[in-house]
Amino acid sequence: MPVLLITGGAGFIGTNLTRYWLENHPDWQVIVYDKMTYAASHRNIELFEGCPRFSFFKGDIADRQSLEPLLARADLIINLAAETHVDRSLMDPESFLRTDLIGTYNLLELHRKYRDKKFIQVSTDEVYGSVPEGKATEDSHLNPSSPYSATKAGADLLAIAYFKSYGVPVIITRCCNNLGPFQYPEKLIPLLITNALMDLPLPIYGDGKQVREWIYVDDHCRALDIIADRGQIGQIYNIGTGYERDNLSIATQILNLLNKPLSLIRFVADRPAHDKRYALDWQKLKNLGWSPVVPFEEALKRTVEFYVSNVTWWREIRESPVFRSYYEANYGWRFQDSR
Ligand SMILES: NC(=O)c1ccc[n+]([C@@H]2O[C@H](COP(=O)([O-])OP(=O)(O)OC[C@H]3O[C@@H](n4cnc5c(N)ncnc54)[C@H](O)[C@@H]3O)[C@@H](O)[C@H]2O)c1
Repeated sequence: MPVLLITGGAGFIGTNLTRYWLENHPDWQVIVYDKMTYAASHRNIELFEGCPRFSFFKGDIADRQSLEPLLARADLIINLAAETHVDRSLMDPESFLRTDLIGTYNLLELHRKYRDKKFIQVSTDEVYGSVPEGKATEDSHLNPSSPYSATKAGADLLAIAYFKSYGVPVIITRCCNNLGPFQYPEKLIPLLITNALMDLPLPIYGDGKQVREWIYVDDHCRALDIIADRGQIGQIYNIGTGYERDNLSIATQILNLLNKPLSLIRFVADRPAHDKRYALDWQKLKNLGWSPVVPFEEALKRTVEFYVSNVTWWREIRESPVFRSYYEANYGWRFQDSR
């Protein structure tokens, strides 16, 4: 039975990818290896516990010794393990360097030994920095703005170098912003939804006109599946949709879906070096036969429904000291200063 190893599989995309792979590949085993940082939830792992084709190991991608036996068993490795929140990277860049860059280096080093295993390094559109006009292709200049995107860009470059220098069979994917179930509620969409559900103000950075390209997480999982199957080793694939929306319009749509007043929107001080727009050219992936199937408005509706029906899941997180101290440190002063 072929084995997929998902590093960082207990977070947002990992939970959705585990479910996707178990459902769509009944002949595969899935192993999740995750450090269980604040961004992971034990409830995510519990979803799969009854499935004999699923197993979970707690561990750090920086720990080669515990990772090696799992990697040796796997046929395909998808690396999702990362520190992922831009605002936290501004507060504590070091943890991003340790996981996103050094952690990926560890995986690449192991792959020098296991060169028969396909390795997908999941990266982000943020490595291109702000794209004021047009779309970023895979050959566009890397121009990261935050410690998060800089460490992801560094990992991409290292992965390409390992392919060229040692023949490590790596493929890099750069996806746009995901939305869907099980996303930690510090990220824009679940933060806005859960604040609205609690009748708290919805913080909008600056003028709210920052544009992001959005993808429903299942479409991202399907893209990873196709890339694992048909993608070419040593290549980079952008994963985009063309669904560009600004933050303010998303907040408005969420309030409308929840029948809450627009007066809950609160403009607050902007994030430093906040990129204005991300936009991807994903023709290369289209050529492999992929295109998104869930339109943005449908994706947002499904995401809102998830948070409305899974209050225990997100309340437990929002009431945790980790979430509360982050929320206070990031938004406390912004709310005080907002007009
Ligand atoms: N969410 C998005 O919109 C998006 C878009 C493009 C790319 N990505 C990339 O996809 C990947 C997954 O993103 P996500 O949104 O699911 O993030 P997430 O923060 O929800 O999950 C990250 C997971 O990695 C685990 N982890 C962190 N450090 C680890 C370590 N040292 N060893 C093992 N596990 C560790 C965490 O415990 C968590 O389960 C990341 O690499 C991210 O850069 C995300």
